[in-house]
Amino acid sequence: MARNRGFADVVVGIQWGDEGKAKILTYLLNSGTYGVTARFNGGSNAGHTAYYKGHKVGFHQLPSGVLVPNTELYSGSGTVINPVKYSAEIRSVEELAEKLGENFYINDRLSISGEATVVQPHHIIIDGLKGKKVATTGNGIGPAYVDQAARMNDGILLNIRMIDLKRDPEKYLKLIRENLERVVNQYNVTVFLEDGSGGKREIAYPVEEKMREFESAVEHLSDMITDDPLYLERRIERGENILFEGANGGLLDKIKGTVPNVTSSVTTPGGAFSADLPPNDRRYTYGVLKIIPSRVGRGSFPGEYGGEISEEYTLQNGGNAHKRDIEFSNYDPFEELASCDWFRVGRGLRMRGDEYGTTTGRPRRIGKLDLILTDFATRLFGVDRLVVTKADLMRDFRHTRERKIPVINGYSLNGMSIDFLPMTEEDARELVTNVRYLDSFEEDITGATDYREFPAELKALLNLLENSTPRRCKLYGIGTGPGTDNFVLAS
Ligand code: IMP
Repeated sequence: MARNRGFADVVVGIQWGDEGKAKILTYLLNSGTYGVTARFNGGSNAGHTAYYKGHKVGFHQLPSGVLVPNTELYSGSGTVINPVKYSAEIRSVEELAEKLGENFYINDRLSISGEATVVQPHHIIIDGLKGKKVATTGNGIGPAYVDQAARMNDGILLNIRMIDLKRDPEKYLKLIRENLERVVNQYNVTVFLEDGSGGKREIAYPVEEKMREFESAVEHLSDMITDDPLYLERRIERGENILFEGANGGLLDKIKGTVPNVTSSVTTPGGAFSADLPPNDRRYTYGVLKIIPSRVGRGSFPGEYGGEISEEYTLQNGGNAHKRDIEFSNYDPFEELASCDWFRVGRGLRMRGDEYGTTTGRPRRIGKLDLILTDFATRLFGVDRLVVTKADLMRDFRHTRERKIPVINGYSLNGMSIDFLPMTEEDARELVTNVRYLDSFEEDITGATDYREFPAELKALLNLLENSTPRRCKLYGIGTGPGTDNFVLAS
């Protein structure tokens, strides 16, 4: 008898990234429902943090499911791959596994689509030189997608894919080297090295060394590159289910996000069904919302604590002026929370929520919970099930002067009430927000196992959130602490 077709669920963040998607992904994967978990967009610009047996693990390109044994992993055709970083990430997870006396068998479980575009070393250089205005992550994501769309330039191939590196590494590595040399010469690129006495020494960009590193990473990944364009479709035909993992955050989508301060891929759930599977395989879309929103880089952020002062502060010196260790040695989070300056309240929330870049330690911008944005994003992305993360942190509002939780419940632009994020950055920055204050609570819900244990004030807040998205979605689950298992189903 023919088996039924499988289905695909998709998990996306519905703000600007860093919503804490790993928690719901891990929860869903542990249910045993899915055979494969797949990334569909972006590259090493993404950062997922997970806690495994007390160890903090950061991922950039590996699907989060790497920590769930027996789950197969797939880097989809719409992603862009930095082989050097990918290879290093695999090795670091293997090292952790060895330390814990476990084996995650990554080589056997991971497949990388041959159709994924390669992030070439020169893409990273160009991003570093030209991406500053958008404050990109500097991972070469934009330039790699530009070359993908451009295809060729006057007979020179621009879009080099992983399959090319597998089929004819010599030919394509030569092309990549030529691209690198051309850019290094054109921009006179240099790098800084530690000089051993606390200073830095500037040297010419080490092309040979970088290419050696690149080649050995390609060799490491080669067996994991698949040449089957129907890789996921075959699994669905066999009756297996797929869990897609979105990277970056819905509002960083290259078309529907806060253009031009966005990433270069399709971050909306539709992106999952544009390359590796058709849209009719979709079952549910899970939308992840961080209850205290954050944003990295430049761009409009209604409700940001401290507004543009916070934006500039977090971007100072490329984000390095107020890194995690600097803020923690200079400020006390509780004093910050008690301040009458909203910018400082934001800093207190950042410190309490550990809202810093996974690998860089750079501070994230912090804003108010926003019901209008939640409704807008859940409609735009077609969210069926809403997942709210970091709910445990809401109790920190008891340390503020008002002892209340500010929540945005109205937008107006030029005196007119609106229910969406305006299309232009100019208009988005002109928005006037209406704020309502809700009661805070004392109880620590970290480790709660049942929704019924939540304080009444938090339940009222979650109800309000769910009711603000009446068109589609139901509240599905709540993150109650940093541990992967700090997750409670809504009831
Ligand atoms: P890019 O993706 O490196 O080109 O960066 C474009 C913008 O998206 C910058 O503002 C980045 O800070 C932001 N961005 C990209 N990926 C993420 C993410 O995973 N979390 C948060 N911000 C991101």
